[in-house]
Formats: sequence, C-alpha cells, structure tokens
Amino acid sequence: MYRVGVDFLQDGMQVARSIYRSDGRVLLAAGTRLNKRYIKRLHELGIRSVYVRNDELGPLDPVPDIVSEQTRLESLQAVREGFNSLENKRRINMAAIRQTVDNLIDELLANSEVLINCSDIRSYDDYTFHHSVNVCILALMTGITLGYHQLRLKELGVGALLHDVGKIRIDQEIICKPGPLTPEEFEQVKEHARQGFEILRTYDEVGLLSAHVAFQHHERWDGRGYPRGLVGRKIHEYARIVAVADVFDALSADRPYRRACPVHEVVNLIRSMSGTSFDPQYVEALLANVAIFPVGSLVVLSTGDIGLVVDVDRNAPTRPVVRHLADRNMNPVPKRHEIRLQNLSTVYISRALSETETAKVLKRIALKKGPPALEVSQTSSDM
Ligand SMILES: [Fe+2]
Repeated sequence: MYRVGVDFLQDGMQVARSIYRSDGRVLLAAGTRLNKRYIKRLHELGIRSVYVRNDELGPLDPVPDIVSEQTRLESLQAVREGFNSLENKRRINMAAIRQTVDNLIDELLANSEVLINCSDIRSYDDYTFHHSVNVCILALMTGITLGYHQLRLKELGVGALLHDVGKIRIDQEIICKPGPLTPEEFEQVKEHARQGFEILRTYDEVGLLSAHVAFQHHERWDGRGYPRGLVGRKIHEYARIVAVADVFDALSADRPYRRACPVHEVVNLIRSMSGTSFDPQYVEALLANVAIFPVGSLVVLSTGDIGLVVDVDRNAPTRPVVRHLADRNMNPVPKRHEIRLQNLSTVYISRALSETETAKVLKRIALKKGPPALEVSQTSSDM
C-alpha cells in the first residue's frame, strides 16, 4: 500500500484504504479498481491522494491503524455533531465528547506498540473534523509516551479534540478560503483561540485546563505565537503538546493550495521548529510514535539501490526491513530479497523516493509483469 497523488493515478489501480466522509459514508471503498470516471471525481471532490495497492511489489502484511476504523468514524461523528450543535445555537453533548476521548485512550493504550504508519485522506469540507480527531490521537499518544495517567489523558484529550471549536464563531468564508489569508483575515482567524476558550469555559464538565488548550494552542515556545505571546512554560503543557500535534497533522494533510508533505519531511520540519516554536521535550515524545519511513514507502538506500519498506520496528524506526526492488538506475532486480537494516551497520536509508520517482519505478516493474486485470467494485453513488 502506498500513497499516490491523483495526478499519478492510473486506470486499474486498486484502492487500498477506504475514504470516508465525516458522516461515515464511504466515498471510495477499499478494493475498488480505479477508472477515469473515479479519478475525475476525486479531482472534483478535492481529494489529492489515495492509498493504492500494488501486488507486483510482493506481499505486504497489513499495517494496523492505531485506532480502528469504527472508533475513528465514531470520533468524527461526535466532533461533527458538537460543531453542528453550536452552529444551531445548541449545547455540545459533552458526555459524547468525553466518551469519544475515553474510547480513543483505551484503544491507544492497547495499541501503544504500533507506530503511526499512515495519515488519513479527507475531503476539504470535512477537514476540521478529521483534523480534530487526528490532533486528539497525536496528543494522546504524546501523553502516553510521557507516562500520563488516565485523568491527565482525559483532560488533554478533550482539549485536543475541541482545540479549534472557536472556529465556529469566525466567518466561515475565511476559515474555508482555499488560499493565503490577507493580514485582516488572519487577525480574524486568530480570534478562534480566545473564542474556543470562551465556549469551553461555559461547560461545567470541561476542566479549565482543557479549555486552555483551545486558548493557547497557537502560542509558541519562543513567544511568537498568539493570542497573548506567552513564552515557554507560561504556556500550559497540554497546549504545548497540542501545538506540535496541530502542526504535525496540518502538514500531513492535503490542502487546497498544497499537497501533503511526506512523513519524513514533516518530521524534519517539526524538528526544525523544536526549541523555537515548540517545546523540544514534546516534539521528541510525539515523534517517537511516528514511522518516518512508513510500511509501503519506497526508499533509496546508501548503496543507491531502491527498496520497499515492509516492516518497521518501534525501537529502530530509521532502520526498517526493506525489500530490494530495483538497482540504482531504477531497473527492477531479477531476484528480490529482504534486508534487515537493524542488522547491517554499513547500509542505511539515505532518503525516501519522490512521488515522480516512485511512479517511474512502479511503471517499470509493471511493464515487466503486464497490466493488472480489471475488477468489479462497490463504491458509493457519490463517486
Ligand atoms: Fe487552531
């Protein structure tokens, strides 16, 4: 399974992970064979990449997600309903929000050996809901890595899930604007932090520390954040954790004006902001949970050869097991074998392959094997 930009999708490619709307409807089911109509529709829906299968690369053990699809969907729904309630001048069902956070904590604690191997794919309309759930998951994983007990995880989780709730009080045309903001618009967007705090503090069930996550998640370690320009430990630790999770997820997602950054680039970018934008301690606690070269990604080894990541060990995330696919000139090798980088001190991963390079290698491998057979698919009528 690997992530392919819609510009590189081809007829006959098979979808590896279902794409959902935030209301739980399947937009494109796993197993669907793509055709021109589906690909055109993906463009129209603003979806910019899809996980596809490639059997020609050999068998790949399924990568477990850190939370089940069902919990992810239920969480999405809880956030969506919370935001909708506010829009309709009703109160958020905080019991549902707290239950969602409890469920996420339970699953994450049970799966604490699993690394984040893939980020979800979302349509633009649903961005805020997916983002809220992802930030909550990332923040909770950071909290678990730090050894937080249940009560603190709950406070952190509620704050993280609702960190952007103040956006409901900002002009939606600005929030959804598909491009850079003017300085005046940015001033308006900044208000969402304070507004989120004002909303959350009216709920007895929401602790003041959770409300402060909404207030302070755009504050920065060096004092250059907003709304108050707080510095260092003056920012509550929950907000410092959510600040890293917020930017990590934003960079990992496709946006109307740019494609998602590959994981290793996101990791480098986040590290480059450690000590300036972010508290270094929380940067490392979050990154300890991320597979830098996820299973299914194509990488260049220090020898120049090209390989497919087939397994990642939490204790050595930069030294996964790699299947040798092609030589330094991108020519498929006649005999594939697996290299356990942990056991080799002389070979390492020098970089991940770019999307164009990945497409090139896959095309060469496919040419050797002939085109894939077409299959019938079952996908939503929206497609
Ligand atoms: Fe925000």
